[in-house]
Amino acid sequence: MARLRVGVVGTGGIARNRHIPGYVKLQDEVDLVAICDVSKDVVTRTASEFGIEKAYTDYREMFDCEKLDAISVCTPNSFHAPISIAALERGIHVLCEKPLALCPEEAKNMIRAAEQAGKTLMTGFHYRFQAEAQAAKRVIESGELGDIYMVRVQAIRRRGIPGWGVFTNRSLQGGGAMIDFGVHLLDLALWLAGNPKVVEVTGVISAHLGTQPNVNPWGPWDHEHFEVEDHAAAFIRCEHGMAMQFEASWALNVAQSVENVSFSGTHAGLDVFPFQLNKAAHGMLLNTKPAWMPGEQDNVGDLEIAEFVHSILEERTPLVTVQQALQVTEIVDAMYRSAERRASIQLA
Ligand SMILES: NC(=O)c1ccc[n+]([C@@H]2O[C@H](COP(=O)([O-])OP(=O)(O)OC[C@H]3O[C@@H](n4cnc5c(N)ncnc54)[C@H](O)[C@@H]3O)[C@@H](O)[C@H]2O)c1
Repeated sequence: MARLRVGVVGTGGIARNRHIPGYVKLQDEVDLVAICDVSKDVVTRTASEFGIEKAYTDYREMFDCEKLDAISVCTPNSFHAPISIAALERGIHVLCEKPLALCPEEAKNMIRAAEQAGKTLMTGFHYRFQAEAQAAKRVIESGELGDIYMVRVQAIRRRGIPGWGVFTNRSLQGGGAMIDFGVHLLDLALWLAGNPKVVEVTGVISAHLGTQPNVNPWGPWDHEHFEVEDHAAAFIRCEHGMAMQFEASWALNVAQSVENVSFSGTHAGLDVFPFQLNKAAHGMLLNTKPAWMPGEQDNVGDLEIAEFVHSILEERTPLVTVQQALQVTEIVDAMYRSAERRASIQLA
């Protein structure tokens, strides 16, 4: 059976917690031969922790020396495009962490490089692999909800500002709660709704809590150099009368954190987290929860890495397509432009 020679660029939190362990578990299909990080200290420690033979501080050198088939890009967002394009131009498949890119132009350049090379470019939208998300996809595709006309997207942390890395640096990350956390739930909502065409976006962003000393169970962060939004709200108008109400926060004065996508259709409604089907039947209003669903015990990170590897080996399109990742980037970009101009942005 064919095996892939794999490398990882950026060996911080997500690489060590998800990508590297995910590849290590695919022993029959993957040789994790090399990793790279601009920090010599970080890459050396990670290589020794996971028993990886080669450690580089320059990704181009790693690409040129290691004859890699595939890589993960796990760096801050501003490096996603240059590293992915450099890999694709050398014929290397890419699993790029989310968001795909800082702006639609970058994303389109990445897609062009993938198309020209004939290689896979997948984005790390791992929420799609959760058991509830897969169940919601089956229910929606069965038509049980009827025509969906209202979608609520909530990616709300009461307090959860990431204080490590460069998450609060605008030029390196491109934004805050929306581009970092909101993109997961936005992608999930769009994918479940069948990626409808979006025609108009109205966004409002703010940074009231992140810029002041505050309580943060995730640990300290530098509130004096907090350059991004801690909260984003948006209204997204889709074709055929579907509306999406979107909220993302790293810190907000609410009773509790909420991660959910909720659909309302002409026949029934559905909450994804926790999973619940809401409908009227037999003269009653019924809320139905699952007693069991497949995949409840699965590790979504492992499923994401396996999907990338298997899509390459089976020469098929991965579950997360580049056009879907581009749509998320276009909407996030429109939200930021709308917030800045204090006006709605028309798309398409
Ligand atoms: N899918 C998820 O749920 C999820 C969760 C966390 C982070 N992420 C994404 O993963 C990426 C990294 O986040 P993290 O939490 O691991 O951050 P991190 O700060 O822990 O790690 C990033 C690493 O990249 C290295 N790096 C920076 N520039 C580099 C370059 N040019 N070449 C090689 N290495 C470079 C840094 O030295 C650092 O070790 C971000 O894009 C983030 O959005 C995704």
